[in-house]
Amino acid sequence: MLHVAVIGSGTMGNGIAHVFAQHGFSVTLIDISQPALDKALSTIGKNLDRQVTKGGLSEDDKTATLGRITTRTSIAEGVTNAQLVVEAATENVDLKLQIFRDLDLYAPQGAILASNTSSISITRIAAVTRRAEQVIGMHFMNPVPVMKLVEVIRGYATSDAVTEQVMDIARQLGKTPTEVNDYPGFVANRILMPMINEAIYSLFEGVAGVEEIDTVMKLGMAHPMGPLQLADFIGLDVCLAILRVLHDGLGNPKYAPCPLLVNMVMAGRLGVKSGEGFYTHAPGSKDLVVASRFQK
Ligand code: CAA
Repeated sequence: MLHVAVIGSGTMGNGIAHVFAQHGFSVTLIDISQPALDKALSTIGKNLDRQVTKGGLSEDDKTATLGRITTRTSIAEGVTNAQLVVEAATENVDLKLQIFRDLDLYAPQGAILASNTSSISITRIAAVTRRAEQVIGMHFMNPVPVMKLVEVIRGYATSDAVTEQVMDIARQLGKTPTEVNDYPGFVANRILMPMINEAIYSLFEGVAGVEEIDTVMKLGMAHPMGPLQLADFIGLDVCLAILRVLHDGLGNPKYAPCPLLVNMVMAGRLGVKSGEGFYTHAPGSKDLVVASRFQK
């Protein structure tokens, strides 16, 4: 089995480490913060418990999965044996470029360098390395253990062989890989974010309230979450950052972020992670309560 290094232990990084380890890969989870790594291991343990409770996994599988994950606080030490690196650090261009410069220095020659970026150009990331043909996008969806899609993004120079290997690895994780080219937002966010933005515009312009907008999309289009609930789940700051990538990269005013979204991000109303967005989110509660500002 391949040895995989996962960089970043937040929501996406711990989910990615979880699925690789569950499918028999040995994983090094890397983060600059040891407390963040400890928290990630505890989250993975809890998410494995859900799978055990639901009967999808045995206690032995859970123990073996956790036993395949080691942690490190430095890239230089963590990637020395990696055949595949999946970067899932914060969605910040300068940080990602620095990580890929480091990966180019410390990862073995043949290693595939993948990024879980939701919208930063793979071609741009690849260009800071001396192995652009081995750099690729591996975009997992949240929650990673549940969602079937891996959007596989070919940068300008990504080789056919690396693309095939990554598609095959995603299948070994029980996922459905889908190959797309490297243009702003790729496919997932090129389509998802304008829908979310339009939902926010509908609220902003008084077309309907939060619950009505989400109900139309849940019951009318069979979406598991309405677009405003989903925006809270993804993080309003992340939605805004992706819309800006679409707006800047495609130069079309139709991608301009709704002023209400911009205001909410400036006010720190980021959704689940801050406790309030379009809904309030009490820790541990699954109740959907519209934020007081949007109540009628
Ligand atoms: N780990 C393991 N299992 C998990 C889990 C996790 N983190 N989160 C949920 N689950 C499991 C639950 O145990 C449950 O399992 P069973 O079906 O076996 O019972 C199942 O997933 C459903 O969970 P819940 O019953 O808790 O709740 P739910 O039915 O409301 O489903 C949801 C939750 C899966 C998140 C669902 O609401 C959903 O699909 N929402 C949309 C998610 C989505 O669109 N994600 C993409 C976001 S965009 C993105 O990620 C990319 C980007 O670039 C922005």
